[in-house]
Amino acid sequence: MSAPQPPRGIPTWTPEQSAAVSCARARIARRVASFGYDEIRLPVLENGDLFERAVGAATDIVEKEMYAFTDRNDARVCLRPEGTAGCAASAMRLGLIAGGRRARLWYSGPFFRRERPQKGRYRQFHQVGVEAFGFDGAGMDVELLTLTALMWEDLGLRDAFELQINTLGDADARRAHRKALLDYLQAHADALDDNARKRMHDNPLRVLDSKDPGTRRVVASAPPLADYLDETSRAHYAFVKGQLERAGVAYVENPRLVRGLDYYTGLVFEWVTPGAAGQNTVCAGGRYDGLVELLGGGATPAAGFAVGLERIAAALDYATDDKPPTAYAVAAGEAAVQAQAEWLMHLRRAMPEWVVIGDGDGGLKAQLKRADKHAAAAALIVGDDELARGEVTVRCMADGAQQSVAQDAVAAALKRLRPAPDE
Ligand code: HAM
Repeated sequence: MSAPQPPRGIPTWTPEQSAAVSCARARIARRVASFGYDEIRLPVLENGDLFERAVGAATDIVEKEMYAFTDRNDARVCLRPEGTAGCAASAMRLGLIAGGRRARLWYSGPFFRRERPQKGRYRQFHQVGVEAFGFDGAGMDVELLTLTALMWEDLGLRDAFELQINTLGDADARRAHRKALLDYLQAHADALDDNARKRMHDNPLRVLDSKDPGTRRVVASAPPLADYLDETSRAHYAFVKGQLERAGVAYVENPRLVRGLDYYTGLVFEWVTPGAAGQNTVCAGGRYDGLVELLGGGATPAAGFAVGLERIAAALDYATDDKPPTAYAVAAGEAAVQAQAEWLMHLRRAMPEWVVIGDGDGGLKAQLKRADKHAAAAALIVGDDELARGEVTVRCMADGAQQSVAQDAVAAALKRLRPAPDE
């Protein structure tokens, strides 16, 4: 009988793949915390209306991809497809951003979108998201972009991704541009694909990132948003670009970058794997100055981004070197097996930075074989004789060299065998 399957598009990750995702999360979390962001745990099962209001009813995410249902009490609920809306709502409920207070928050966990599954695109995936509320200056956009650049450096992925930026301007600019764009698309409707023709009335901006070759040809000459930007937006954008240059963060301007969520205003950005086929955006975000007000709060300028952890893990050269070293405790003899639980407690207290494995099953040879299988740096052999003397035989698994040491001196002997990385 085969094992039960999860729903289609929900991946099953191996322990190695899981470790790479955890490693990415841990390093990103460390860097985010170093910028003064506080972690916040958000609901995974959310209010069914939240994303319609925040992300937009005419977006793919809400229209086609949400896992939304009514529960047994007929309450409308959904599995969260993204984190910004829930983070804003939580910050509002907790009073963290009341009266214009500023807050730097981050979160991580699973998100759900019923997209067509393919490599790098899953129906359950993990993000680390970072949101800054109450900041209207361009300095926050620079902070977020430099933070992402340092995250890649921490992960050894400094040159792996390309930063693309664009600005969506203020509400007036977007309104004027939307009208001009719609007029233009209507005038060229014959050359558009069906999907573009359908969606241009609801959301003409989304036609700009169409993949259809015919639509792309039309879009190439569409009126650019840049023509409608006011002085403030232009100055904000110019400041961000200047600061990125001074900070040594390379970027590419992409006037077609519009993002698939309606809450964005002003600067938007994506980090992409250049040349990668398929799902190549590893991190995306921007400003969303109107979202908190839309959810019923006061005017609160805000900006943020989210990183797709599975996509980062796939780019990561995650090696077993990142794992802590292993010591395998071998109990050889009746009395040694009896004493092993006490001995393991002692070892695990003395060496919290080591992985300590040992179960006493089988003879000496079988246990040493398992030590090898676990790629242990050392086997700690306790036979009945050693036990009587209060000693342990420390065997270096790389070369088989053995030495007898007192039980209390094992941690020090192992340290000599395998010094901690920062010593
Ligand atoms: P998003 O572009 O929808 O933005 O998602 C951010 C990232 O999550 C993507 O760049 C990608 O790496 C990852 N991702 C999205 N969908 C999938 C999927 N189906 N499978 C695997 N990875 C995926 C947001 O979610 C916004 N909330 C970002 C934000 C935060 N903007 C402001 N603050």
